[in-house]
Amino acid sequence: MSKNLTANRSSLTHRVSYALRHPARVPRHLRRTARDTWLRYRSPDHVAYYRAVMRSDTRRDPDAAVGGRSRERWLALGAMQFDYLLGHGLRPEHRMLEIGCGNLRAGWRFIEYLRPGHYYGIDISPDILFAAQNTLQEQGLQDRLPTLTPVRDLSLGFLPDGRFDVVHAHSVFSHSPLPVIEECFAHIGRVLAPGGWFDFTFDRTEGAEHHVLREDFYYRTETLLSLATEHGLTARFMDDWENLPHGQSKIRVTHRADG
Ligand SMILES: C[S@@+](CC[C@H](N)C(=O)[O-])C[C@H]1O[C@@H](n2cnc3c(N)ncnc32)[C@H](O)[C@@H]1O
Repeated sequence: MSKNLTANRSSLTHRVSYALRHPARVPRHLRRTARDTWLRYRSPDHVAYYRAVMRSDTRRDPDAAVGGRSRERWLALGAMQFDYLLGHGLRPEHRMLEIGCGNLRAGWRFIEYLRPGHYYGIDISPDILFAAQNTLQEQGLQDRLPTLTPVRDLSLGFLPDGRFDVVHAHSVFSHSPLPVIEECFAHIGRVLAPGGWFDFTFDRTEGAEHHVLREDFYYRTETLLSLATEHGLTARFMDDWENLPHGQSKIRVTHRADG
C-alpha cells in the first residue's frame, strides 16, 4: 500500500480536491464533522472526546469502529499484527500488554497463542471492551482468561514494574495528540520488562504535522523518535513493516540499555 507522505489533509486545498475526486464520500464526511464538533463541545478533554467517538462508532458497528471496512479486512488486519510479532520473536510465555486493544481484532490471536493469563488489554472505551468480550466468546477463548480493563489515561500506575515483555499499540497513536503519546512514553519504561519491546503504529507525514477532526493525527518520524529519547527510551523505525499492505508506519521502543 503506497503512503501519501506529503499531503496536509487538514488544508482547504486538500479537502476541496479530495471532495472533487470522491463526491460520494462528502455527505458522510459532513455528518462526521457535525457529530465530532458536537462531541468536542461536550468533551473538551481529548480522551473523553475520543471515548465519545468510540461509543458512537461502536454502537453502529464495532468492527468498523476499530477501522475494519469488512469482516475479511478485520481478520486480515489482526493476522498482519499477529504474524509480524510472531516473526519478531513473540513466544507463548511472554506477557503482553495491548494498549487500545479495541474489540480484539489482533488481541484474540494473541490470547489464543499466549499462555492463559498472559494477555492484558486496556482501552479508554468501555463500549469497545464490551464488544471485545463478544469476540472472546465467539472465538471460544474463555479459558485463556485474558484481562480487559478500561483506563482513564496512559499513566499505567495500577500495573506492576517490569511486567510486560511485549507492549503493542496498533492504530492508537494515529488517534492521539502528542501529550497522550508523551504520557505513554513517560510511563511505559516502568512496566516494560528488561529486554522487552513496545511497538506502536502511527500515521506518518514527511510534511507538516496535522490532524483531521482531532480523530486522525499525522506525525513526522523524528518527532516521535526524539520524544521517546527524551523519556530515557531507545526508539527505531521498523523498515520491514513498510513492506506490508498497511497505511501506517511502525516504531519500536526499548529500554535504553537494550537498544
Ligand atoms: C483504531 S482502534 C484499533 C484497535 C486495535 N488496536 C486494533 O488494531 O484493532 C483504536 C483503539 O484505541 C483506543 N484508544 C484510543 N486512544 C487511546 C488511549 N489514549 N489509550 C488507550 N486506548 C486508546 C480506542 O478506544 C480504540 O479501541
